[in-house]
Formats: sequence, C-alpha cells, structure tokens
Amino acid sequence: MTCDLVVFNISQLVTVSGNEGLRCGQEMREVEIIENGYIVVHNGTFLEVGCGDVPKHYINDHTKMIDASGLTVTPGLIDSHTHLVHGGSREHEFEKKLSGIPYLDLLKQGGGILSTVKATREATFTELYKKATKSLNTMLLYGVTTIEAKSGYGLNLENELKQLEVAKKLNDDHPIDITSTFLGAHAVPEEYKNRKEDYIKEVLEMLPIIKERKLADYCDVFCEEGVFTIEESRHILNAAKNQGFKLKIHADEIVAQGGATLASELECVSADHLMASTDQDIENLVRNKVVANLLPQTSFNLNKTYANGRHMVDMGCGISLSTDYNPGSSPSENMQLVMQLASIKMRLHPKEVITAVTKNAACSINQEAQKGSIEKGKEADFVIFDAPNLDYLLYHFGINHVKDVFKNGKQVV
Ligand code: NIG
Ligand code: FE
Repeated sequence: MTCDLVVFNISQLVTVSGNEGLRCGQEMREVEIIENGYIVVHNGTFLEVGCGDVPKHYINDHTKMIDASGLTVTPGLIDSHTHLVHGGSREHEFEKKLSGIPYLDLLKQGGGILSTVKATREATFTELYKKATKSLNTMLLYGVTTIEAKSGYGLNLENELKQLEVAKKLNDDHPIDITSTFLGAHAVPEEYKNRKEDYIKEVLEMLPIIKERKLADYCDVFCEEGVFTIEESRHILNAAKNQGFKLKIHADEIVAQGGATLASELECVSADHLMASTDQDIENLVRNKVVANLLPQTSFNLNKTYANGRHMVDMGCGISLSTDYNPGSSPSENMQLVMQLASIKMRLHPKEVITAVTKNAACSINQEAQKGSIEKGKEADFVIFDAPNLDYLLYHFGINHVKDVFKNGKQVV
C-alpha cells in the first residue's frame, strides 16, 4: 500500500506514544524518542512510525517526501485552556498593572474582565470572528493544532451564545480544532452588582440552552476570592454536571480557597492555574486523576509565583500546560514560551513538558484516543521544529522554532 506523505531522516522523532490515559508523576518522563525516525501518513492519519529506511512499498510517484535531517518532530501542540474569543484588548490597564494595582482590584473597580465584557458585548459576530482568526493563525504558526476555548466575556445569554457560535464556526472553518467551554461564571456583570445570587440563577438558566444547541462540552467557573466562592462554584458545577457537561475549574489562581479539592470532589476533568494550591489540594487531584492544567504565562504576566510543577509531578500529579490566552492575565498565544517557562520556572524536564502539551493536554479535553501522540491510527497532527533535539527546543528560548505544521496530514504552515 502506498501513502500520501513520508517524513524521513528525522533527527529526533518524539512520539509520546504508548500508555493510554493520563500520564502521572514519573510516567510523564516515559517519552519515546526515535533517532533517525520516519513517519508514514495516509488519509489524514499515521500509518506507520519507525526508524531508519522507509519501506519502499509505501512510496510511489505521488507520495510527498520530506527530508527532516537535523530537525525534531513532535505531535501537534494542544493548548487546553484559552479565552480565544473576546472583544478589544487591555493595554489601557498596563500602566496601572505596572504601578502595582493587583489584578483582582482592577476587576473590583469595574475593569479587568468587566472591561473585556463591555468590548465583547459591543463587538459584532464578524469582528469577534476576525480577531479570533488572527489569534488562531498565530497559534498555528507556533505549532498548535488543537485548542480549548472558553466563553465568559458575554455574561448574558445573547453574548455568551455569540462567543460560543464564533468558536463553533471557527472550528468548522479553521485548521485548528476547537473544543468549547461555557464559562458564564467568569465574573458577576455590572448589572448584577450586589445581586450575585440572581446572576447565578441566570447562569443556571443558560446551561440547558447551551447544551441543547451543542455549543459547549465543558462548563468552567472562576472560583476565586471576590469572584465565585467554593459553595457557589460547587452549586454551578453540579448543575452543569446534571445537564451532561464535563467540568473544569479555575482553581487557586490567586488565593487558596480549596478549588483543587473541589475539582477532585466533583471529578472535574481538569483543575487549572493552581498557583496557590496546598499539598492537600494536590493530593486530592492525584487521588482522582484530575489533570493539573498549569498556566505559566499567567504567572509571568501577573508577576506572581509559578505553580510548583516540579513538586506536583513528584507527588504523582498528571500535568498539562496551556497559554490561558486572554486579554488580561495572559495576552500571548505562544505555546513554546509556555513550554520554556515550565522548564525554567517550574523545573520540569523536557520530556515532562512535551508530555504536558501533547498527551496530557489531550486528556485535559478527553481527546487522547485521537490526538496527542504520533502512533498508528491517530490523527496526523505534527510539527517539524528547526531544532536538532527536544532539549534544544526548550533551552533556546523566546524564539519560534517551528518549521512546518501538519494537521490531519495536510501542511498548514
Ligand atoms: O484564567 N482568571 C480568570 N480568567 C482569566 C483571566 C481573564 C481576564 O483577565 O480577562 C484567567 O487568568
Ligand atoms: Fe483562564
């Protein structure tokens, strides 16, 4: 049988194959790296992965042949926490931030998330679509082939639907695959100031409508001091679970409220941020195999401590890493910077980092059966990096190493 595409002579082929399911603790280092590897792609999936000479029977006159000498190949990167669709930007708050006004204080003053809510409500579908397309194009250039995208800047039915509809259309139109999350409980909108209970009721009413229109697979809550409490988060997430949503939570980003422990209790798929989590919280995540989704760009941008990734892996956690791309706490789509910050600031080993942004990130959106590794039968999403080996990719930081990107076997960069 002949095939569509062969990539051969690969200096380091990082397959991240084998071992189905979330890789926890030491398993995160069990990454297969094939020197002088090749991959054979047909009909959008991997047909064979190997080492040395490519079997002749795969090749005919129509097979595209790529010589990857001196280059590294990994699975397509998966960014499993983004706030992709939103209006406007927040550089007008940059000086305030630099002068030391805390992130949550800006929100209390009606800025922060609420300033983006205003811009998102004012934006048309087309404006949001165009802006998000630009971000997706940037993500692709940096090697990302699948993302998760949250709503949460509409904070009323009409505008939450608008955001989710934009993400749905982009999933159809753009090479990057998008999984959507409903984040109606991202903040309390101005019109509900001092009436949080009423807003929570509105969020609960949005759930069945979003479910019925198949606009989101996940529900998320910003569980944080001054935003939603543990009890409120439990209430909203339980209601979502009863409607058939899978769960995620913004947990322990700034203040340790026990968000990660709640994630474990509710069997969330992932608990995200975890900068302030305690050891007890982490143990609870480990026990219920909740993915610890860490977002180092947010720590960098808010000038905060980083989640203790090294300690979490040593405690047996399964970690994924994402950009948290959003206009406030992480205005950057750069997954390679995320990886480099994770190794330098969280002391994660390169093999742990690549597991976190491929296999474990796929687990974070329940797509590990199709994506996240280079192995026979999986979707042929992969990146060719202009780097001689995996370590180099993390060590030589701050630049874009991507040479080519393939999505379902088709070259997209
Ligand atoms: O994950 N923390 C809550 N949500 C985002 C920030 C959103 C914003 O500031 O616009 C986050 O950091
Ligand atoms: Fe976030």
